Amino acid sequence: MVATLPKLEVCLSPALLHLYNTQGAVVVIIDVFRATSTIAAALHNGAKCVIPVADVQECINLGMQIPNSITAGERDGKVADGLQYGNSPSEYPRAFVENKTLVLTTTNGTRLLHMVQDADTIITGSFLNLSAVCNFLIQQNKPVLLGCAAWKDRFNLEDTLFAGAVVSRIKEYFSINCDSARAANYLYEHAKESTFIDFLRDSSHYKRLSAYGLSYDMEYCATPDLHPVVPILRGRELIVHT
Ligand code: MLT
Repeated sequence: MVATLPKLEVCLSPALLHLYNTQGAVVVIIDVFRATSTIAAALHNGAKCVIPVADVQECINLGMQIPNSITAGERDGKVADGLQYGNSPSEYPRAFVENKTLVLTTTNGTRLLHMVQDADTIITGSFLNLSAVCNFLIQQNKPVLLGCAAWKDRFNLEDTLFAGAVVSRIKEYFSINCDSARAANYLYEHAKESTFIDFLRDSSHYKRLSAYGLSYDMEYCATPDLHPVVPILRGRELIVHT
């Protein structure tokens, strides 16, 4: 008898999340520019954990309660008022972040993370941990939803491209009957003719962040497998899956 493969779907925007059944699924939160890239970098560089929070005030309050913590995040791509640091992965080298708790709030990424309620498992994905995420999903052998954080509910290229990279690598292990997964895969197949960053230079968030002098961040975020960890949500904390 042929075993049934688990389902894999792609949700292109938080506004579409209600259309998908996340119960019992592994949900991958994707915010390539830059929240889930920063999470991978901080955890790979030895952060004790990352606490994603939806709200700036909550971030500040938690930072006051938790010893050895950093409050960080952005609104509209700029460091949010009242927080100590921003959402650049390069702000969190080992010498700074090791053994610290990063309390992080971002415009789209941490928001989507809080919207998913009943999943079996929540992890975060970015090009920085592409292979680690793909290997984890194959091992779990459960239904998967790749959830793009997008930009204020609007489709974006970078998260869809990453979703397509995952679909392309793991599709033989899953049953896929989802047109957004097919579209993401087509996008990836087209983009890999060049480098990811060459393709993404024409994206709206690349243009937004480069206007703030943050082009380097996006070159960093487009580098596959620089931080090969799987950040997994345990309670309120993202930690490294072991
Ligand atoms: C977000 O969550 O919207 C982003 O990570 C924004 C950014 O910092 O570039």
